[in-house]
Amino acid sequence: MMRSPGSWLGALLAILFVATGAIAQMAPGERAPELSGPPQEMGETEAKPIPKWVVDDARKERAYPDQPPIIPHSIEGYQLSVNTNRCLSCHKRELTQESGAPMISVTHYMTREGQMLADVSPRRYFCTACHVPQADVRPLVGNTFRDMSEMGVKQAGSE
Ligand code: HEC
Ligand code: HEC
Repeated sequence: MMRSPGSWLGALLAILFVATGAIAQMAPGERAPELSGPPQEMGETEAKPIPKWVVDDARKERAYPDQPPIIPHSIEGYQLSVNTNRCLSCHKRELTQESGAPMISVTHYMTREGQMLADVSPRRYFCTACHVPQADVRPLVGNTFRDMSEMGVKQAGSE
């Protein structure tokens, strides 16, 4: 069976495409940093001690307006399950006067369609999916983050 020159060219291009993809994957470029040290088959590795959390109760500045604020207090032993939410025992609206804790944000009472609810929205129930305590440790991965207010934005009310 004869093939047209067009189909040969197509096949050649396809091979070339797959081959360059494979080579690109093998290239020793930047690799993800090792998080767990060298692999040790079947061996036991001593776990490093968990760093101490910053628990000075001082609410930290957010890096951008809708950053989930970090937790400035200890949450050790706080139960957070389907039936019990220790965080809400201080942070829900009805209990903040007593606890002195900031109320969960108004967004936490909204469904994803923007409908307001009387209680925390299920998508905001598991607080530690977004809010985490902070430890003063060397970052595993460097970053070049810059606060957006330093990027030449004229701040409202700054004159
Ligand atoms: C005993 C009451 C109490 C409990 C329980 C509690 N908090 Fe708090 N939380 C506070 C208070 C009070 C503050 C204000 C800062 C401070 O005093 O530490 C605060 C501050 C925070 C902040 C910082 C808010 C901001 O704007 O900077 C976050 C986030 C937070 N808590 C999340 C949690 C999460 C998540 C849990 C559950 C794992 C939790 N809290 C459990 C009382 C509580
Ligand atoms: C899906 C992510 C997510 C979950 C889950 C979540 N939060 Fe938040 N939270 C945020 C974000 C983002 C903000 C800041 C922007 C905003 O207000 O929505 C915030 C803001 C807050 C604030 C600051 C409110 C203020 O007015 O300063 C508190 C306190 C808080 N959350 C507590 C909680 C608690 C307690 C829970 C669990 C019941 C919880 N959050 C669950 C993302 C989340």
